[in-house]
Amino acid sequence: MPPASTTQERINQLSTLIHEYNHSYYCGISSDFQGKICKDDIYDALVLELKSLENQFPEFRSEDSPTMRIKGEPNLSFPSRKHIVPMLSLGNVYSLDELKIWDTGVKKLLGGQCPEYVCELKIDGVAISAIYRKGILNAGVTRGDGSVGEEISPNIKTIACLPLRLKDEIDLEVRGEVYLSRKNFDTLNQLRLNSGDPLFKNPRNAAAGSLRLLDSTETRRRHLEVFIYTIADGIPYETHGRNLEFLSQQEFPLNPETKMVGSIEEVLEYCRYWEERKAELLYDIDGIVIKVNSLKHQKQLGFTARSPRWATSFKFTAEQAATVLRSIEVGVGRTGILTPVAILDPVELNGTTVSRATLHNYDQVERFDLHYDDHVTLEKGGEIIPKIVAVQTTLRSADALKIEPPLDCPACRTLAVSLEGDVEWRCPNPQCAAQQKEQILHFVSRRAMDIDTIGPALIEQLLAKKLIRNAADLYLLTHEDLSRLERMGDKSAENVLIGIEKSKQCDLGQFVHALGIANVGEKTARILSLHFGSLEKLMLGSRDEFERIEEIGPVIAESIFNFFQQAEQHQVIANFLERGVVPAEEIIQEITDSPFSGKIVVLTGTLSEPRDVWKKRLIQVGANVTGSVSKNTDFVLAGENAGSKLEKAEKLKVLVIDETKALNLLE
Ligand code: IVH
Repeated sequence: MPPASTTQERINQLSTLIHEYNHSYYCGISSDFQGKICKDDIYDALVLELKSLENQFPEFRSEDSPTMRIKGEPNLSFPSRKHIVPMLSLGNVYSLDELKIWDTGVKKLLGGQCPEYVCELKIDGVAISAIYRKGILNAGVTRGDGSVGEEISPNIKTIACLPLRLKDEIDLEVRGEVYLSRKNFDTLNQLRLNSGDPLFKNPRNAAAGSLRLLDSTETRRRHLEVFIYTIADGIPYETHGRNLEFLSQQEFPLNPETKMVGSIEEVLEYCRYWEERKAELLYDIDGIVIKVNSLKHQKQLGFTARSPRWATSFKFTAEQAATVLRSIEVGVGRTGILTPVAILDPVELNGTTVSRATLHNYDQVERFDLHYDDHVTLEKGGEIIPKIVAVQTTLRSADALKIEPPLDCPACRTLAVSLEGDVEWRCPNPQCAAQQKEQILHFVSRRAMDIDTIGPALIEQLLAKKLIRNAADLYLLTHEDLSRLERMGDKSAENVLIGIEKSKQCDLGQFVHALGIANVGEKTARILSLHFGSLEKLMLGSRDEFERIEEIGPVIAESIFNFFQQAEQHQVIANFLERGVVPAEEIIQEITDSPFSGKIVVLTGTLSEPRDVWKKRLIQVGANVTGSVSKNTDFVLAGENAGSKLEKAEKLKVLVIDETKALNLLE
């Protein structure tokens, strides 16, 4: 047995090394520390050694040992946590005129009433949720994908201005924006410069990186701050303004510039004021948030699929930058679409260095009449990737070459095609490795099968070594196949297989999304799974049946129908099932004695619960929920402010019921 001092030294040494690796990983800067690349298997070995020493000598385990944060296996992530109330994002308007249009829409939906608004600064930071139990700060969660975030409680607790204990012993969930002041950002980067660490691009990136550090002592040193802007759960009062007052009484940090106004003119004035003066603030903002004050009005206005109708964000005019387009890179999408990406001389835009811009399709190249070495203007609009908004043709040299559509696919060299009337150029080869790679990447992605142990580099290797040809082949991989690959330790191979195995038990919606049917995103996939209940029934759906589903138009219906007509797709699906993938069927109880069973029901207007909830409830008792009212419709379930569907129902003498009546019938 080694002497105790040596063991303790080794434990300290291992802890320091792992902390350093975690630190650099979570700053999102590199996997390189102390000049060495830490491969996953070396990292795994360090953690294993530390764990085993700590098990033998628990007295030497330090309070902040990295193993305390690494649960079970060496997993470089925080625990996931579902948001009880989803963390939605806001719709955007990009000009004051668009803001006036938004206001007109709000007033129309409120039956002509003029609402009070609350104007707030849109802090450019990271959204968080803070959960209090009996008045004590219990957990902090990031937004994640809006429905599931990461629990980063130790780091949230380092934010000095966020109360750890409330005045009242209540259960409360509040939401806000964590940010780094410009001063603290500069200090942080100065320290990083001195120690040779890579610099953060802007305060938002620095705040995001700091929140996801595994070492919360380091998070504390960064001096994050937060502004709380809403209550998610446990709302006490009837207006947003009054709730903010309540938050202030509980000593939450609120933004001092928030202003309640009575007219859209005052909203516009607030936006103009802060667009002019945003540089005077001590922190970054990227716009203004406008919220309807009355919660009753908010309820009446409801939500779209992604965001509330009762709030919007006015984005400040996007910054522009001038640069030169040097070349075009052609990307191959999972359906073979060839997308031109402009490669540019690097330029600063909104605090980040930009060297690529999407051109969407060759139609756009044609519209700008783009040539190589053109001087172009870039803008960061709503999208993350900047776009070209103008070309200075006067600066073009006479011999500049025009950018033409690609002759062939850059990956497989098959001749590119463009169907008549189509703006896209495509690679028509379904075996194209680049397409396969994109399809598999989509298949494993978080919103599809969520196999997070498989990334682009691994897929490339697997395809190159012909270990897989498509996503279904992932389910044939063995430990031996994987451990022969580069950068693949024993433990990593095991993790990949665990990820694949876990994905076999998936939701039907997840699986349908993962299949990559053209025009079928996550939401449509969920709607399909809810409507048909099983893969078998979905595969047998007719074009008409798809079209009759609310939210599915003729183009998507055609696309789904065509997909399930193809023999190859049947084969791929059969392979998935044979290899153990079990998409869980939606339980649709055939309650045949319900007044709704076998009936065609249409939903309209603002309902007090989300449409998905109503839909599921009705489908479960055998109803067929469709999108448009016809003479075949049996019931129209109308909420507040129902429009043309209600009128049509009345004209066709279809039975119209409200939510209370529907609930009675369901009982
Ligand atoms: S309200 C239902 N208020 O902006 C939407 N959001 O897309 C609730 N943000 O990531 C958001 N300042 O974190 C709201 N005063 C403010 C905000 C704010 C910044 C962020 C928010 C979210 C994004 C909205």
